Amino acid sequence: MGKKILVIGQGGREHALVWKLAQSPLIEKIYVAPGNPGMKDLAECIDIQAADIESLLAFARKSDVSLTVVGPEAPLVRGIVDRFRQEGMLIFGPTAAAAQLEGSKVFSKNLFKKYGIPTARYEVFDDIIAAQTCARTYIEAGQAVVIKADGLAAGKGVVIALSQAEADEAIHSIMQDKSFGDAGDRVVIEECLVGEELSFFAISDGQDFVSLLSAQDHKRVFDNDEGPNTGGMGAYTNPPLYTEELHQRIITEVIKPTIEAMQKEGCPYQGVLYAGLMVTADGPKVLEYNARFGDPETQVLMPMIKGDLFPILEASAAGNLKGYQVEINTGACVGVVLASGGYPAAYEKGKMITGLEKLEAETIVFHAGTALNQGQLITDGGRVLAVVSRGNSIEDAIQKVYQEVLKLSFEGMHFRRDIGRRALR
Ligand code: AMP
Ligand code: GLY
Repeated sequence: MGKKILVIGQGGREHALVWKLAQSPLIEKIYVAPGNPGMKDLAECIDIQAADIESLLAFARKSDVSLTVVGPEAPLVRGIVDRFRQEGMLIFGPTAAAAQLEGSKVFSKNLFKKYGIPTARYEVFDDIIAAQTCARTYIEAGQAVVIKADGLAAGKGVVIALSQAEADEAIHSIMQDKSFGDAGDRVVIEECLVGEELSFFAISDGQDFVSLLSAQDHKRVFDNDEGPNTGGMGAYTNPPLYTEELHQRIITEVIKPTIEAMQKEGCPYQGVLYAGLMVTADGPKVLEYNARFGDPETQVLMPMIKGDLFPILEASAAGNLKGYQVEINTGACVGVVLASGGYPAAYEKGKMITGLEKLEAETIVFHAGTALNQGQLITDGGRVLAVVSRGNSIEDAIQKVYQEVLKLSFEGMHFRRDIGRRALR
């Protein structure tokens, strides 16, 4: 008898996880809560929201679920893993204490400092005037300054200020207007690092870990990194700057010390460690950690993983990852997000999506904001679909993916035309 698993979440990241896990010969049935229409053929969608921890737990118990996999960060930070464990249920992801690595910038920055993990120079403030005074020292020295709300802010809690006016406004908005609620009780003021950004993913069981691979995402809404930040407009794997030497430095200077530090702090980290890095002239430095898989990075990571992901997630949750390895496919994967016109600001929903039947069999489409209306697929969110192609090289994958993207349409459809192009420079 195969196993039953429950995946929590509803975006493109969760569709990619479900897609990968559905290939496991060890799994008999996948439930996903709440899921989306793209997953319907792979899993049974259960109408429970990711925030409803007690209902998820009751469902998992009743349905004989042997492993629960958590997609988004919010339930992790709120302690879903602690709650499942109390009831003796196996669940993949960090405890609330360990998820502070993402949930509190103050926690993570202080950890980096205490254990010598490379990161931007910083100070923490709970007082507006003191924070503004600190920011001024950077501006007066002719440097940009980075202002971060302490807590979760849906990816919007970071401002890079180039003038004192911008810095003052950001600090005021976070700490006085409380634009992110309690997340703004404290701010981190830090130096602005210069370099190229890279995401790196590993899975830990609290002590041992396996490396997955690296990716770059494209956060701005328009080509050439213009326009406002989004959840991510596309991603590609293994950018050229990610050399074997850089990989070794990331492992020895960042990933291993972080896992050891979390152990020493009494909150061993089990789950995905998603390191947001700046590769500077002095080497990799941590911008932030996320306690979950990236979106849209997962949509390009999953097709690159050779073999079964399920035993890795299970071993991470059970604390016995030692001896496991993840084999990575050769070549590269590129994913392009198709978004609703207007995203990340206001956009319309309910537009008919057409062209999916014209795609090549090997093209993968992960759904995010979609819905079904009398059997017709329609748009239902800002990021609607991610189209993903694998190729022998990044260049090859870019060519393939854009041929496919052009077959799809919905009213107002917007996508970036330069995903992965940075890698070809
Ligand atoms: P974070 O949520 O901390 O990853 O910050 C969001 C984004 O802000 C990052 O992906 C970077 O593009 C940028 N960022 C954050 N911290 C810094 C820093 N110290 N120097 C330069 N850019 C930064
Ligand atoms: N792709 C950015 C994130 O998942 O946070």
